[in-house]
Amino acid sequence: MAKISPSAVCQQMLCVESPAPPCVFIVFGASGDLTKRKLIPALANLFKRGLLDNGFLFLGCGRKKLSNEDLRKIAAEATKDFLAESEKFLSSFFYVSGDYDDKNLYNEIQNTLVELDKKYGKNFGRIFYLALPPAMYPDVVENLGQAGLNKNEESFARLVVEKPFGKDLASATELNDCISKWFSEKQLYRIDHYLGKETVQNIMMFRFANSIFEPIWNRNYIDHIQITIAESIGIESRGSYYDKSGALRDMFVNHMLSMLSLVAMEPPPSFDAEHIRDEKIKLLRSIRPFSLDPCNEDIVRGQYAQGIADGKNIPAYRQEADVDKNSKTETYIATRLFVDNWRWQSVPFYLRTGKRLAQRVTEIAVIFKKVPHLMFASAGIEDLPANVLVLKIQPKEGINLSFEAKRPGAKMCIGTLEMDFNYTEVFGAELPDAYQRLLLDCTTGDQTLFTRIDDVKLAWGLIDNVLKNWQQNDAEPYFYPAGGESFSQADALIQKDGRNWRKISET
Ligand SMILES: NC(=O)c1ccc[n+]([C@@H]2O[C@H](COP(=O)([O-])OP(=O)(O)OC[C@H]3O[C@@H](n4cnc5c(N)ncnc54)[C@H](OP(=O)(O)O)[C@@H]3O)[C@@H](O)[C@H]2O)c1
Repeated sequence: MAKISPSAVCQQMLCVESPAPPCVFIVFGASGDLTKRKLIPALANLFKRGLLDNGFLFLGCGRKKLSNEDLRKIAAEATKDFLAESEKFLSSFFYVSGDYDDKNLYNEIQNTLVELDKKYGKNFGRIFYLALPPAMYPDVVENLGQAGLNKNEESFARLVVEKPFGKDLASATELNDCISKWFSEKQLYRIDHYLGKETVQNIMMFRFANSIFEPIWNRNYIDHIQITIAESIGIESRGSYYDKSGALRDMFVNHMLSMLSLVAMEPPPSFDAEHIRDEKIKLLRSIRPFSLDPCNEDIVRGQYAQGIADGKNIPAYRQEADVDKNSKTETYIATRLFVDNWRWQSVPFYLRTGKRLAQRVTEIAVIFKKVPHLMFASAGIEDLPANVLVLKIQPKEGINLSFEAKRPGAKMCIGTLEMDFNYTEVFGAELPDAYQRLLLDCTTGDQTLFTRIDDVKLAWGLIDNVLKNWQQNDAEPYFYPAGGESFSQADALIQKDGRNWRKISET
């Protein structure tokens, strides 16, 4: 397939970025992996971009007995590759240690925050971040509330909760009841880091800042939509978490449904957080419940078996550390779903995600209907491929449109061309990590990219029956070889509708 490169030079840029007000991140579990790999580097980048110039502090908390200096060393290590002049940044890091269920820890946090306000002569807004195993959330929130840390008369107090938010509808509701006793929905930032990705946010810009796509963005022109999150990696060191979770909980209920909402929702009246979140909710409400009929499955689950990737032998999922040797946890799911509303009636959405697949690819592919009449049939051309628009989320972020065009030479010679826009080629720099966007939005109070509670409940409600069904049937998942492209049962899910998955290894 020939590729053409558009002269995609940014003609005019309209950029709006509000810097953070004075704020302190109070991070529980500050010695952990998320803090080191994501939070500190994201804050360092915001600092470098001048977006924390109004005043920024980091107060780490946890059971480990660390000093301010110890935490600063962790932060220095986490940022050494890109933050040369780090003295000012590192001097903003402080640490208090204690048990999460000990009231003294929260008194100490309160005293430290008051001291820091005095020392710097500012009323810092407080952002409490739960970078902890989820089992610890209720204890911490209850203690924050009892210590009065959920309020901040001088500025703001917010709470950031990492995924997973519960493990089913009942536990998500219970967790929310526990949190909402102390923090209002306006104070609450539930992270779905996929929404922080530039290319995911671009779905909205692409759809609603251009007039040419919306008129054809419906059942009249679109045949179907495929959403893929394929990972080449396995579960790494997360065996004990993943084996209790699986792909449906880990990827589908949050990231995949978020992408689906953005691509399928109605245009919101404005870029206001509540307007956007209202439209996402309406879309989720329109999703038809999955058929659990074994003769007409809407969900297929798989688990990787031993295989070969890049010439290396890859062990089966059941052989991974901290995984039950008879585990039935799914590392792959493929689903077909329908959105029962005017726009999408009868348009199937095929979603798949899996670990240990042939390649790492995240994309949304919009496959348009074929031309209604083939006027070239008399010249021997009996079929033409459909136009496909691909929103590439990772790793080669961009947008790709395939279309048919005449090739030079013979009178009748048609071939597929691709118009390809690549973020890195056009904008040069690497895209900022999702956490930069999300952390900055927490400071400015923009909840657009965070999941509202009705969204969480609808998403869990959608898969609750599926989870129960799997548990009751206690059936084995299908097995696929690590490093593979797909497997026959996942293929059958789409092939029974006369369609095929896009090839992961060719995207
Ligand atoms: N890591 C990621 O890339 C990532 C991505 C998405 C979401 N998340 C979510 O972010 C949260 C934190 O993830 P993480 O990877 O940073 O977790 P982690 O490294 O396993 O734990 C973070 C910290 O939690 C504290 N902790 C308290 N009770 C613990 C217990 N029973 N077992 C282990 N640690 C305990 C520890 O600090 P102290 O010993 O000092 O108390 C630990 O350093 C989780 O909810 C996770 O699901 C993480």
